[in-house]
Amino acid sequence: GLVNTKEMFAKAIKGGYAVPAFNFNNMEQLQAIVKAAAEEKSPVILQVSKGARNYANAILLRYMAQGAVEYAKSLGWENPQIVLHLDHGDSFEICKDCIDNGFSSVMIDGSHLPYEENVALTKQVCEYAHKFDVTVEGELGVLAGVEDEVSSDHHTYTDPEEVIDFATRTGCDSLAISIGTSHGAYKFTPEQCTRNEEGKLVPPPLAFDVLDAVMEKLPGFPIVLHGSSSVPQDEVDTINKYGGKLPDAIGIPEEQLRKAAKSAVCKINIDSDSRLAMTAAVRKVLAEKPAEFDPRKYLGPARENMEKLYKHKIVNVLGSNGKA
Ligand code: G3H
Ligand code: 13P
Ligand code: NA
Ligand code: ZN
Repeated sequence: GLVNTKEMFAKAIKGGYAVPAFNFNNMEQLQAIVKAAAEEKSPVILQVSKGARNYANAILLRYMAQGAVEYAKSLGWENPQIVLHLDHGDSFEICKDCIDNGFSSVMIDGSHLPYEENVALTKQVCEYAHKFDVTVEGELGVLAGVEDEVSSDHHTYTDPEEVIDFATRTGCDSLAISIGTSHGAYKFTPEQCTRNEEGKLVPPPLAFDVLDAVMEKLPGFPIVLHGSSSVPQDEVDTINKYGGKLPDAIGIPEEQLRKAAKSAVCKINIDSDSRLAMTAAVRKVLAEKPAEFDPRKYLGPARENMEKLYKHKIVNVLGSNGKA
């Protein structure tokens, strides 16, 4: 069945790689994630956001994820290492609902709350979750952009002075931190970037000094990075070529994620890149074959494109291939 993150993260930290956490909202995304993980023998975290629950229905998503374990076995993956995780839980109630309904891991995101309230809420979720062997991700620091329907125009980096107290008092199993990543396909404004010789935008580097300080305070503790899509330029170009409009979309350079994956960062969240891969493929088919109206004819290529992207992340960025 589904597993929690405990052993998975311990192995990732020792092995110097990160486990991919991919969001899913529909069957094609799920199939592509599981196929990529099965073929690359990579541990994988299937993430469901509140938005995904509203879109696809919590019950259906749960059974789809449980079915994914059987699906993975049918693809020849003997011992599938698959986590079903709630992404950005914003209340005890939503976490409890997931814990009561087969999730193996949850995130309680109290990062926008005053510190003591974040501690209390995270602790409450941990106490309940741990009775059922469900692991809990907490968060300290605020990402720029929209998170939990709360929008912030600047990063509030995680304060390394708080992490020992937070981890100890809450009992959380992993900690999401803010070091300059953000959600969505517009992670930096052109003004925040520099330009290289070819005139291409180069984003500012992540705050690895903050990550180092956190790791020094909590040696061997599992760290999570949200907002880690790289916004592949070829997908953005395809979208724009076939009628889309994503000017100046920009993400986290893969080189920086590769570096992070080698550290105690053992979960890297990627959602936007999958959305871009799906949209690029759908737009291309619909533009090139205007007579097509069988959804399988555009969702099939979309699924293939996402699978390619997931494999690329696993093999070339996170290094989790061959670890499960
Ligand atoms: O944290 C954001 C994830 O990409 C989920 O996005 O809330 O639109 O499903 P969503
Ligand atoms: P991206 O928007 O960078 O894909 O981040 C996804 C995420 O953090 C989900 O929690
Ligand atoms: Na790592
Ligand atoms: Zn996130």
